[in-house]
Amino acid sequence: MRLQDQVAIVTGAAAGIGRGIALAMAKEGAKLVVADWSEEGGRETVALVNNSGGKALFVKTDVSNPADINQMAQACLDEYGRIDILVNNAGIVRFAPFHETTEADWDAVININLKGVFLACKRVIPEMLKQGRGKIINMSSIAGQVGFENTGPYCASKGGVIAMTRALALEYAPHRINCNCIAPGIIKTAMTHDMLADPAQKQFLSSATPYPREGEPDDIAQATVYLASAESDFVNGHVLAVDGGWLAK
Ligand SMILES: NC(=O)c1ccc[n+]([C@@H]2O[C@H](COP(=O)([O-])OP(=O)(O)OC[C@H]3O[C@@H](n4cnc5c(N)ncnc54)[C@H](O)[C@@H]3O)[C@@H](O)[C@H]2O)c1
Repeated sequence: MRLQDQVAIVTGAAAGIGRGIALAMAKEGAKLVVADWSEEGGRETVALVNNSGGKALFVKTDVSNPADINQMAQACLDEYGRIDILVNNAGIVRFAPFHETTEADWDAVININLKGVFLACKRVIPEMLKQGRGKIINMSSIAGQVGFENTGPYCASKGGVIAMTRALALEYAPHRINCNCIAPGIIKTAMTHDMLADPAQKQFLSSATPYPREGEPDDIAQATVYLASAESDFVNGHVLAVDGGWLAK
């Protein structure tokens, strides 16, 4: 197994891509902390992992809250004694024309998608430094690399995640801590449900994706397992697009 006995924290693991990542990592032998502000979904993910022979613990966490992040890391250390892998996956999107975007929506998106990554990295990196190694995988988006209409704060947050990933990759490479990010294309989850349910938007999204199917959470999960495993030890500061070729155009 590629992650045998590795200890991983996955944020936003109550649903969608994060749940897919938790299940794929558990299948490869990782022990997990499922961190999410959704208790119901988080406990469901834990049950799915534990029922399939894996080991997971739920910690109710709002990633934009430093006290919650501290509790998340401490719970992981109390249960497993170490943190080998941090997957910063929790994220939200708000749709509005830029000039109508409220400050509250800007703050919510930036605080969860960008500050949340900062807080979790800041808390976990000292543990990885003590251990002499670690893997950090941040969930960006193709929207961090190309513009999308009506999602200005989201694009800004995901571009920020890419820049932060590169900065951390340089800073901590000497300590064998890898920091990479994934840029998913359009993946079938609650986040994209309404877009994919609208025939005009679905047509636009399908025609912009060269590969002839929609993305699934497991597409992202497999890329995350790779970036968490020893197979990718020499991959650092990379943005791995898992987008069916969207960014290739
Ligand atoms: N679905 C896509 O097409 C797509 C594309 C590009 C990037 N992404 C990114 O992938 C990640 C996962 O997205 P998804 O599609 O699975 O979305 P989703 O809405 O299905 O799941 C997001 C999860 O994050 C949790 N979450 C949200 N805010 C949180 C907070 N403050 N603290 C803790 N947990 C929180 C939610 O409860 C949920 O479980 C996000 O960062 C998203 O921006 C998704």
